[in-house]
Amino acid sequence: MNQTLPPSSVIEALLAELGPLAVLAGDDVPVRNHNDYSGLQASPPLAVVRPANTAGVAAAMRICHEHGVAVVPQGGLTGLCGGARAPAGQVALSLERMVGIEEIDSAAATMTVLAGTPLETIQLAATAAGFFCPLDLGARGSCAIGGNLSTNAGGNRVIRYGMAREMVLGIEVVLPNGIVVTSLNKMIKNNAGFDLKHLFIGSEGTLGIITRVVLRMFPKPASAMVAICAAKDYGNVLTLLNSARQNLGPLLSAFEVMWPDYWQFATTQAPGVSNPLKGDNTAYGAYVLVEALGTDPVHDAQRFESWLGGLLESGVVPNAALAQSLADGRAFWSIRDASGELHPLWPSHLAFDIGLPVACMDDYARRCREVLQARIPSVQALFYGHIGDGNLHIIVYQPGAAEQPKALVDGIVYGLVREYGGTVSAEHGIGTLKRQWLGHARSPEEIELMRVIKKALDPQALLNPGKVI
Ligand code: LAC
Ligand code: ZN
Repeated sequence: MNQTLPPSSVIEALLAELGPLAVLAGDDVPVRNHNDYSGLQASPPLAVVRPANTAGVAAAMRICHEHGVAVVPQGGLTGLCGGARAPAGQVALSLERMVGIEEIDSAAATMTVLAGTPLETIQLAATAAGFFCPLDLGARGSCAIGGNLSTNAGGNRVIRYGMAREMVLGIEVVLPNGIVVTSLNKMIKNNAGFDLKHLFIGSEGTLGIITRVVLRMFPKPASAMVAICAAKDYGNVLTLLNSARQNLGPLLSAFEVMWPDYWQFATTQAPGVSNPLKGDNTAYGAYVLVEALGTDPVHDAQRFESWLGGLLESGVVPNAALAQSLADGRAFWSIRDASGELHPLWPSHLAFDIGLPVACMDDYARRCREVLQARIPSVQALFYGHIGDGNLHIIVYQPGAAEQPKALVDGIVYGLVREYGGTVSAEHGIGTLKRQWLGHARSPEEIELMRVIKKALDPQALLNPGKVI
């Protein structure tokens, strides 16, 4: 390593090894590589390297390592916490040219893909092969599977299929020093030593760059049932959740709760969203989207309908709408997905993905709202989330503010998270945006162990430095 080499020498070395198609520097760096979705200030990297294969990633890593230049892995750039944003002077290593499905193994029910492949491409390929890729989130069209794994993405079907971590059997990874570790395991059971893939999944590109992935595929659902259920209060939401688990069993695939503030906003202000509930439905305590995916179109639908009918009769659910078509189902989901379309209405709003014990979520929401309203004039706060997974989302916005009061809101939201024994990130990760709050969710011993692992793999702190820890 030679710290005194000028920046141009690392670019020359990268160009010589990888060629001009793979290395863009200075004014040639595309604007898209200046940022992710974190809302942080855009920052042009020193160069963008776009290798075509794993050997190219390894060569780029080795060269940057030799020159002492930090590298930031980039995928679809849809991360919300700044993990893929490259500060000035660092090299962005984009997986955007490493796109494609390498293999579908029907016997093992696996798909091997390159890390830059968009999630939606994988979903469609799984469907075309007669399988199902359950990982799903709003950014499906743009996010890349490598980023989904780096952040251990959650999304809408975690209640049934788990986080991204649970859908992976093998990975290939390039270490900070350029060594390639190919661990493309396809077996569900493999206890031969440490399960190394889990070091890299969820560590936000700080320990290695994921280049290839073996994903599990699942049976393709033959039936889909979706309903919107109103509930008088949060106690009834929990009754509904237990009832759904008990009666729908393994078919239950989503349980998305919207507090009244979110529901009113989405059904009256979000473009293209309509309210499927009949009568005056503004006075309920919560609104729930329940989805079930099954294998038998006739019996599954009957069972779902009679389950819902029972809840309406008993009063647990005083009002409900059952999707009668795929279009209805999509319309119901659009109420929940409206949270992703808020930027034009509320620019620079603050968004949270905290985790909390399920039982105290409503209590948290009430207290958080009270404190926000007491401290921030005319503040708007919307609560919703993947409640079955203990994951609450909050959107906070102060209309008319020259700058959103981020530090104040962070302090309120994360202060209460600590009090309730929750986590500062249930699914989006830490990046740089939540780094100062990691200690609210992890013990000093846990954070120290993270540092030990980081140091062992990346002693010079050259891979995504300053992220997470
Ligand atoms: C959601 C993403 C943003 O649930 O986590 O909408
Ligand atoms: Zn979410």
